[in-house]
Amino acid sequence: MAEAALKTSSGSGPPVRHFLDLDAIDGAELRGIIEHAKAMKAARAGRAKGAVDADAPFAGEVLALLFEKSSTRTRISFDVAMRQLGGQAIVLDAGTMQLGRGEAIADTASVMSRYVDAVMIRANNHRMLTAFAEHADVPVINGLTDLSHPCQVMADVMTYEEHKGDIAGARFAWLGDGNNVAHSLIHAAAQFGFAMTLACPEGDQPDADIVATATDAGAEIGLTDDPVAAVRGAHCVVTDTWTSMGVDGAEERRGRFLPYQVNEALMAHAPDAVFMHCLPAHRGDEVTDGVIDGPQSIILDEAENRLHVQKAILRWCLGA
Ligand code: CP
Ligand code: NVA
Repeated sequence: MAEAALKTSSGSGPPVRHFLDLDAIDGAELRGIIEHAKAMKAARAGRAKGAVDADAPFAGEVLALLFEKSSTRTRISFDVAMRQLGGQAIVLDAGTMQLGRGEAIADTASVMSRYVDAVMIRANNHRMLTAFAEHADVPVINGLTDLSHPCQVMADVMTYEEHKGDIAGARFAWLGDGNNVAHSLIHAAAQFGFAMTLACPEGDQPDADIVATATDAGAEIGLTDDPVAAVRGAHCVVTDTWTSMGVDGAEERRGRFLPYQVNEALMAHAPDAVFMHCLPAHRGDEVTDGVIDGPQSIILDEAENRLHVQKAILRWCLGA
């Protein structure tokens, strides 16, 4: 277990298992979470969406979902995950909490630790997430920050393997913005042993330190400004919005990113690849209808697997 994942919080109790970033958790633990998610998904095939899993591991437990920005998938899938695990979820909008009026993150974390068993946070700024985790006595899960989106990428790994088999040795192509989702995919490339080529405009490439750390850890990460070179021979083509939440200048960005659009002509260079997108998609911008609704797209399985993999993440965090 990597030290960062087991950081002891302010209390004197046992170490708390946070799920903050994929580079901070041992690769074997991440593999265990993926396999657990696959098994749990298979075990409840055909059951009602709200039916509680046979072992109800979280009976009596509560998860808080704390959002500083919008969400559809993360919010619903974590809530349903807790219901299926036999527990409960509370969905909180940070703007309507005292946090939004300046209450200290440390105080909020300490107080919430007295009410709930785990906290998932979607934060504007990654530092808010880590500050919260430093002061929480319960597990904290990263539900997206400006820097990373590890739960999404765990679902991506699971979904890729459902369709194409072992991800080790696969070649991923990332098109567009070198953003939070791209960063977590780079972390995953190092942990799960797949290669990635990212085609991004100058100035919108992924964080150089994240690339360097992954490369030092043995990952094959290529950067290019040529979309065709990136997708040629790929087993998976991935893209995301050109303007993430909290980023300004959508119109100006659109002009720069247009050459990186995933369209039918580009996918013709990757005939064996599946197509993934974390959603929400901006159809006609980063991806065309023909691709996202086409035969190579696996976006709905990808979205569904958020639920299954987050159940496994919650069980990992809470030792169930
Ligand atoms: N992919 C994802 O995190 O979606 P939401 O923003 O809807 O949660
Ligand atoms: N990169 C996007 C992902 C949304 C799920 C954003 O941060 O807005």
